[in-house]
Amino acid sequence: MSEEIKTIKVTIDNITIDVAPGTSILQAARMIGGDVTPPAMCYYSKLEGSGGKCRTCLVEVAAGSTADPRPMPKLVASCRTGVMDGMIVKNMTSEKVPDARAGVVEFLLLNHPLDCPICDQAGECHLQDLGYDHGKEGTRYQFARRTFKKEDIGPYIQLHMTRCILCYRCTYVADQITNKRVHGIVDRGDHAAISTYISKAIDNDFSGNMIDVCPVGALTDKTFRFKNRVWFTKPMDAHRNCQTPGCCGKATLWLRGDEVFRVTARKDEWGEVQSFDGKPGWICNTCRFETKQTSSWTIEGLTTISRHSVIGANKYQTLEMPKETVKKVMNGVEPKLLMDIHSVSGVNNPDIHLSEINGPANSSDFKK
Ligand code: SF4
Ligand code: FES
Repeated sequence: MSEEIKTIKVTIDNITIDVAPGTSILQAARMIGGDVTPPAMCYYSKLEGSGGKCRTCLVEVAAGSTADPRPMPKLVASCRTGVMDGMIVKNMTSEKVPDARAGVVEFLLLNHPLDCPICDQAGECHLQDLGYDHGKEGTRYQFARRTFKKEDIGPYIQLHMTRCILCYRCTYVADQITNKRVHGIVDRGDHAAISTYISKAIDNDFSGNMIDVCPVGALTDKTFRFKNRVWFTKPMDAHRNCQTPGCCGKATLWLRGDEVFRVTARKDEWGEVQSFDGKPGWICNTCRFETKQTSSWTIEGLTTISRHSVIGANKYQTLEMPKETVKKVMNGVEPKLLMDIHSVSGVNNPDIHLSEINGPANSSDFKK
C-alpha cells in the first residue's frame, strides 16, 4: 500500500492551500501567486541557505497553528519561517506589514544611491520595484551615504559596492556553483562589503551567474554595461548546444536589431533563474560573454515579459488591428486608420516619407 503523503493547511490572505511539511510561508505564498506573495530581496530558491538577511518578506502570523492558535508576537521573515497546520498568515491584508515593509525599504535605501536614471540595472532592479511598491516618498536619513570605488572582479564583472544591499546571493552562487570561491563579505555593520579575497579575480566558468542573482545594480556585465537601456532591447529565448558541463545552454538574448547586446540566463516570474528538468538553468561564461552572434543560437521566440515591466513596452509579436466597428456605425464609410497613414491619407502624398525629408516638412514637400 502506497504511503499517504500528508499535507498541511495554511491560509494566506484568506486563501487556503495544502502544502507539504517543511514548506516555508514564502514558498506557500508563491504557490498561490499574485499579490499574496511577499517580495524577496535575499531569498533565492535555487541557492541553499539564502534568505533571512533583508527582511522585505516580513508577514504577520495571525494564528500559529491549529494546535496553538496564538498569533506570533512579531512579524516574521516568511522565507525562513515554516508553515504549521492551520497557520493563518496575513500579507496584503495585514495592517502592520505595509508600514514595516516601508521601514525595511527605508533601511535598504539608507546607503543605496538614488541614481536609477544612470544605473545599468534600471528597469529590471528589484529594489527599484520594491521602492515603488512599498517605499515611502522620502527618507529621514541626513548623513552622507557610504561610497566605494568600482572594482573589477574578473574580466567580465564589475562590482559597484555602493549599490550592494548585502543580500549574500552572489556569495552563495560562488560557493555553490563555481568551484573556486574567492570573494565574500568582509567587515561588519556599516563597513561590511563584498570583496574578492586580496583582490583576486573571479575567473571560473560560472561566475557570470552572480550578475543574474544580484537584485540591484551592484554586479554588472562589463560586456553590456551602459551600452543600452534594457527596455530598448528585445529579449528572445534561444538555446545552443553548449559543451560546458553544468551549463543548460538555454538563455535569453537581448537584441537591438540583429545585434546581441547581452546574454542572460532565463528568468522565472520571481526573477530567479528558471529550472529545466528540475535543475536551475545556470549558464556558463562562454554562452554569456563570448557567444554574441545570433548565428550561434537557435532562436525560439520572444521572451514572455510581465506586463508590469517596462521591458515589455513596445514589444509586439504581430500587429493586431482593432476590430472594425467604425465602418458599421458609419453606414459602410471606410474609416481612415492612422496606423498606416501612407495608404489611407488623402492629404499627404503617399510617396513622401516624412523620415526622409531633410528638416521639418512643409506644404511644398507634398506638391506633386
Ligand atoms: S553584490 Fe548584489 S548579489 Fe552580492 S550581496 Fe550585494 S546586492 Fe547581493
Ligand atoms: S527574502 Fe526573506 S529576509 Fe530577505
